Amino acid sequence: MITVDNLPKFVIDPIEDYIGKGTDGTVFRIEDDLVVKIPWDLEFWERIRAEPSEDNKSMENYAMKRICNEIRITRNLRYDGIPVPRPFGLFSLDIEHRGDSYERIPGYIMEFIDGKRLHELRGSRDYKKAKALYERELEKIEALGRFIPGVCEVSDLNCFWLPKKKSVVLFDFMRWEDKE
Ligand SMILES: Nc1ncnc2c1ncn2[C@@H]1O[C@H](COP(=O)(O)OP(=O)(O)OP(=O)(O)O)[C@@H](O)[C@H]1O
Ligand SMILES: [Mg+2]
Repeated sequence: MITVDNLPKFVIDPIEDYIGKGTDGTVFRIEDDLVVKIPWDLEFWERIRAEPSEDNKSMENYAMKRICNEIRITRNLRYDGIPVPRPFGLFSLDIEHRGDSYERIPGYIMEFIDGKRLHELRGSRDYKKAKALYERELEKIEALGRFIPGVCEVSDLNCFWLPKKKSVVLFDFMRWEDKE
């Protein structure tokens, strides 16, 4: 099992704010072209570290499992030609956020996608086109027969529209599963 202590260390410049926060993760932009996704949020990791109980240990293991899962799924989708952010891997982050320091935080580093989430386009001219492209990718994924998409994650909240390229990028696979 991968634990945070056997990950390569990555020291991040102080960050003021995240660019995205959902139910499963917090995403920070760390370079022009890179973001990092932390399972849940920094406060979760602070609590886990403050009290090394059995419950917290198993929560930590669960979080590691989910983020490793997201990376594996992303790599497999990319290999099969589905547009996803380029994954770089999992690191142990040292991070300063709003003046507070956090250490040994697992973070998944991936390509920054400069797009709009599909749901932000609802009602606009591009929406139909973007939605159709998203659905086409979902059909391709189904035809591959290798993935079980996360029920709540297949949504126009988890797909970017790139207006210049007129294409889509799918993201957020923490709860997807492999079929085998
Ligand atoms: N590669 C990326 N490039 C740019 N922004 C991103 C990227 N990945 C995630 N984000 C931003 O961070 C937000 C949260 O990411 P993500 O959807 O992966 O987290 P989550 O907690 O699993 O999501 P949710 O519960 O909202 O579906 C996204 O909605 C998006 O705005
Ligand atoms: Mg999401």
